[in-house]
Amino acid sequence: MTTVASADAPLLAPPAGGRHGSLYSPPPAETYERIVISSAFRLFDDAWSYELLRRLSRGLQPEGRLLVPFQGAEPSRRGFLSLARVEELFGQKGRLVGATGDGAKLRGHVEVVKADVRPPFPSLLDWFMDEGAALAGELVELSGRPGGEVVELAARAPFVRTVETHDAGRWVPPATLVDATASLVYLMGGVTYKTPVLASLIRDHFNGRTGLGHLDLGSGPGWVGAELALDPRTGVEWTENLDIAPVSAVQSMRMFARYPELDGRFTLHVAKMEDFAAAEPPDVVTFLGGTLIYVPEVTRLPLLQRAWASLRPGGFLAVLENVRSPRFARDYERMLDAAELDALLEPFGEVERFAANTGARLSVEASSDRTAFRLVRKPG
Ligand SMILES: C[S@@+](CC[C@H](N)C(=O)[O-])C[C@H]1O[C@@H](n2cnc3c(N)ncnc32)[C@H](O)[C@@H]1O
Repeated sequence: MTTVASADAPLLAPPAGGRHGSLYSPPPAETYERIVISSAFRLFDDAWSYELLRRLSRGLQPEGRLLVPFQGAEPSRRGFLSLARVEELFGQKGRLVGATGDGAKLRGHVEVVKADVRPPFPSLLDWFMDEGAALAGELVELSGRPGGEVVELAARAPFVRTVETHDAGRWVPPATLVDATASLVYLMGGVTYKTPVLASLIRDHFNGRTGLGHLDLGSGPGWVGAELALDPRTGVEWTENLDIAPVSAVQSMRMFARYPELDGRFTLHVAKMEDFAAAEPPDVVTFLGGTLIYVPEVTRLPLLQRAWASLRPGGFLAVLENVRSPRFARDYERMLDAAELDALLEPFGEVERFAANTGARLSVEASSDRTAFRLVRKPG
């Protein structure tokens, strides 16, 4: 039996001894009799989870079984993977294992037999499983070259719109394969929960509107935005991304080549967010996963004011920052606590809070010591 238990195992290598491996290891075809996905790993009703199920199913022997955790009998607004969706993807009625509750509260595993799963739209996970390891190798090779070469390479990427060269030497690719892989896995690990939670906030707020624009500041390679744009149910038509590190452009080159549907809809600026000017007013502006802490304290409020001013009326601003905690040894000193984050956002309107990994609405108290999306809606 193979248990896929964690989204952040640090290697892309095939499962060691046939038992454990990273989620991002493409499982060898037709190998396992049975694969169990731990219920500790949250699956959503999105292309990323569908792609994972497709890959795992391919790793099963003919007639092999996959045990998939689900939440709720039918798809719901919160967007967790439901029993009905698993059965639809696998084209069969599954066998319930350890299920409790009913209706929206039904939880447990469903056992399905190997099937040819066809996700209705693509996820970056497909590309990452195929090319993540090669990309890690490329990054290591680049780290040995002068910083200016990375900048030149970034400037040639078809989706890159701006390249500022200040600080170029400071933001170089990781120098070892382990570091390069860990940084890619960190970025892809972020997509697993940031994208579906943001997608559900977008669906709730815009109620089916299409033609939406998204701006992500401190985006890294911009994979959260790209994944949002690949999902037609979000209504995100274009995503503009900005990061100071030229390596962000390199991290997205293979990805962009793989998804022609992002042509003209995915852009990246290699620039400082303090100086940014949005090309077109976005409907959604995001700061995700530890970005405000990297700009000097005095520039944080002006930066948020610029972001707010660029936002189209009727849109929203979302900030996901980890609150200060000894768990984050490296950034502890510069991190913000919940009250400091609230104080930065309150000038713009009422601050709403949603759990980072589930999207559940949180009270002020509940969000004081945990990471949350903070959201402010701009009047229409
Ligand atoms: C912790 S990472 C978060 C990346 C991405 N938002 C995510 O959620 O995965 C912080 C990012 O902020 C970028 N960054 C730091 N200072 C910046 C600045 N002044 N302007 C733009 N980006 C910056 C870094 O290069 C890095 O990619």
